[in-house]
This record gives sequence, structure tokens and C-alpha cells, in this order.
Amino acid sequence: MAKTPKTVWYCTSCGNESPKWMGRCPACGEWNTMKEAPVVEKGVKGSSLRTRGNAASSEGKALPLSGIDMASGQGRISVGFPEVDRLLGGGLVPGSLVLIGGEPGIGKSTLSLQIPLHSNAMKTLYVSGEESERQVKMRAVRLGGDESGCTVFCETRIEDVIELAEKTLPDLMVVDSVQTMYSDGVESTPGSVAQIREVAALLLRFAKRSGVPVILIGHITKDGFIAGPKILEHIVDVVLQFEGDNRGSYRLLRSIKNRFGAASELAVFEMTGTGLREVSNPSEMLIPMHGESLSGAAVAVMLDGTRPLLFEVQALVSSAAYGTPQRSATGFDTRRLNMLLAVLEKRAGFRLGTKDVFLNMAGGLKVSDPACDLAVVSAVLSSNFDLALPSDMCFAAEVGLSGEVRPVAQTGRRISEASRLGFRKFYMSSFSGDVDAPEGMELVSVPDIPSLVRRLFKQD
Ligand code: TYD
Ligand code: MG
Repeated sequence: MAKTPKTVWYCTSCGNESPKWMGRCPACGEWNTMKEAPVVEKGVKGSSLRTRGNAASSEGKALPLSGIDMASGQGRISVGFPEVDRLLGGGLVPGSLVLIGGEPGIGKSTLSLQIPLHSNAMKTLYVSGEESERQVKMRAVRLGGDESGCTVFCETRIEDVIELAEKTLPDLMVVDSVQTMYSDGVESTPGSVAQIREVAALLLRFAKRSGVPVILIGHITKDGFIAGPKILEHIVDVVLQFEGDNRGSYRLLRSIKNRFGAASELAVFEMTGTGLREVSNPSEMLIPMHGESLSGAAVAVMLDGTRPLLFEVQALVSSAAYGTPQRSATGFDTRRLNMLLAVLEKRAGFRLGTKDVFLNMAGGLKVSDPACDLAVVSAVLSSNFDLALPSDMCFAAEVGLSGEVRPVAQTGRRISEASRLGFRKFYMSSFSGDVDAPEGMELVSVPDIPSLVRRLFKQD
């Protein structure tokens, strides 16, 4: 009886399927992630087969590249938010599937409802599996804007959603959220890996076939994964991810994948009583506005995608209360912080081994640009000496293992942005090559950490 398996085991991390249980997924190497799900009977899978058949009618033949008509792929659609258009690479591409991910309560539903309200009566089908029509209406009234183009459909069966979309062919479809939708073709519960994969695949096929752009919302778990599988990120064309501290009012939207434009661009929003508002000059909110300078703070000039962004790095160094010192970093890689502290200890003789070190990036920002190293080191030193750095000073350079200060890309653009924001001293590597200083800006070149310490704290 047990010969023909009625269930299949799949990995909750990557979606890999196997006929039997395994302790470790052979595809992604994760332990203890295999879950059992009923196997899909051939007859039930009819819905997806039907779609596949349709898709084949338009996609089944090969075409010479020179003979492909671009007409339907041209013309990007503006979403009514210039910053979001920029993240998308100039607007929505017809027929694209865009995933907006983020933790619950960060503003995904708000943004995706504001798009139809702000975009000049664009014909939008807003599908909600989480809220009722009345709830969507109440939110729309609160957000304000032009409601005329927007149709609301509260449904969780994806075949019904696609059927209606095929009938009405809107200019844009929003699906909130992938975790609440289910397909008849798969027998597991909504939100399971198999369902998420099927729902996303059906929406992708619909988008490609009809040319309707689809915005799909996905929740993210605490450890940063779009709940369920990473495979969702492989299926969609664009992934925009909300970051930031959802207790504060600032929200960061980052493009982490874009088949039609540059990835790792960043847009900043402010959550107000009437929805999200774009912050067109984010540096102004990320650098201190409190006139006087405090110890333990240094301003870094980072590059987010193509745009320079200035923000404050905050450090606190104090004597360890217990035997083992604590090292904790918010928005910055803790291993990199440990490396920088080891460099300070070995190359500049600071005894930080007995101190607690806490590091924080302003505004809930998560940074990965190595150009922030010099600001991190300076903030740590400033807190260690309890000496404030002047507020017109900023930093952009990488720090190497032997304590050398290394140049970073696009120094010129970083300098001009810093100068525009009123900074007067720019610390950079001595090996940066020829860069011009704008009027009123002093460029301070340092070759290594010991000379940085001399320049900052021992006037010579
Ligand atoms: P929401 O878009 O529902 O989050 P998600 O869909 O990502 O789960 O955002 C909810 C939060 O935003 C909630 O905490 C309330 C707040 N909010 C405002 O501050 N102002 C507003 O105008 C709206 C609509 C929501
Ligand atoms: Mg929501």
C-alpha cells in the first residue's frame, strides 16, 4: 500500500521536492526544512496546464532577435511617485511582475494603494486577500487622491483573480498578498511554499501574456526572507524591499533585483497621517540637525546605487561591565566591526579588548558600502576619547587589515554631494588620485589609521 507515495516532501527554504524525508535538503543544504505535503493529482493540476497551453500559443515559437517587435514592450508606466519610478528604472515595464516585500506593518499595502490613487486615474485592479472592500475604501479615503480608476476585488483564489483580470485587462494589477492567495492546482494551504510558487508562476504567465504589469506583495520574516521560499525572488522581474524601523516614521525602499534597471537603488519615504510621502533629499534627514556635535558620531558618505547618501554613524564605547565585552551593530555587519576594532587594536595601539562597543546607523539604514569604514572607525575613536568631531566633517574610505586607508569608487561625486549639503572637511584616502575640491571644501587625505588619529584628535 505504501508503495505509491501519496505525499511529497518539499524544502521550506528553497522549494526543492523529494519523494522521501531527508534531514538535510540536498539543493540548498539547510537542515530540518523538509515538510510533507499531499501530492498533486494530475487531473487537479488542470488549471495550470490550461494556462501553460495558452502561453505556448504565443511563446511556443522561436523568433529572430532582429524580427521582434518592441512596440508592446516600450513606454514605461509612471506609478505617480518619481522616486519609485526611479527605483523601477524609469517606471513600470508592461508585462512585468514586481514583488514588494517587507515586514508586516511597514507600509506595503499603503504604498500599493497610493499608486493607483496618485497615478492619474490609471485603470487598476486592486486585489486584496487580507482586507475587506470596506477596509480598503476606508484606507483610500484616508490616503486621499483620485479613486476613479481603481477597482477593488477581495478574493483569494488566484484562478478567479486571473480570470477577472483577463476579462477587464487593467493598466495595472496589485495583488495583496502572495501569502493569502491559493491555487486549485496545489493542495497545500495558502502561504505554503508550493502555493506561493504556483501563485507567483500563474501571475507571471498572466503578466507576460497580457502585458499587464502586476505588483505582488510579499511578507518578510524577521530574518529577512520573503516568507517561504527564496524562489519567489527568482520568479519575479523586480524585487523592491521595504526596510527600516517601523516604529519610526521613515521607511526605506530598496531595489534588490531589477531585470529592467539598476539594482540597489534606494528611495526614502516618510509615513504620515495620510500615507507615505517621498523624501526627495534623504541625506537631510539622516545627518544630525542638532547644531552642536556629540561624541561618538561621524558622518559617512555612502553610495546607494548611483546616488551619494550622507548619514550619521553613532558609536558608544564603554568599559565592559562583565568579563566578555559586548560588540553589537545595528545596520552594519558585526564581523566587519570586529575586524575594524582589531585593526584599531593592532595597528594603532587602542586597547578596545576590554570595552563594550555599540554601533548604530541613523534612520534604521542597513549599509554595506565599504566606504563607511572610516566613519565607523572615527565614531568609535570619538566615543573612546569622549571628544566630539566638528559637525562639518565627513568621511568616505575603506580601511584595510594593515590599517591602511583605501580609496573608494566615485570619490568626486561623494565630495560634491557633501559640499552641497554644507560640509567643509572631507576625509578620504591619500591614494584617491586627482580629485578637485569644490569651493569652500577642504579635502583631508590620510594614508593610514595612525595619521587619521593624529589629524582628528592631536592637532599637529
Ligand atoms: P500597511 O500598509 O498596512 O503595512 P503592510 O501592508 O506592510 O503590513 O501599513 C500599516 C502602518 O502604517 C500602520 O502601522 C499604520 C500606518 N499608517 C499611517 O501611519 N498612515 C496612514 O495613512 C496609513 C494608511 C497607515
Ligand atoms: Mg498589508
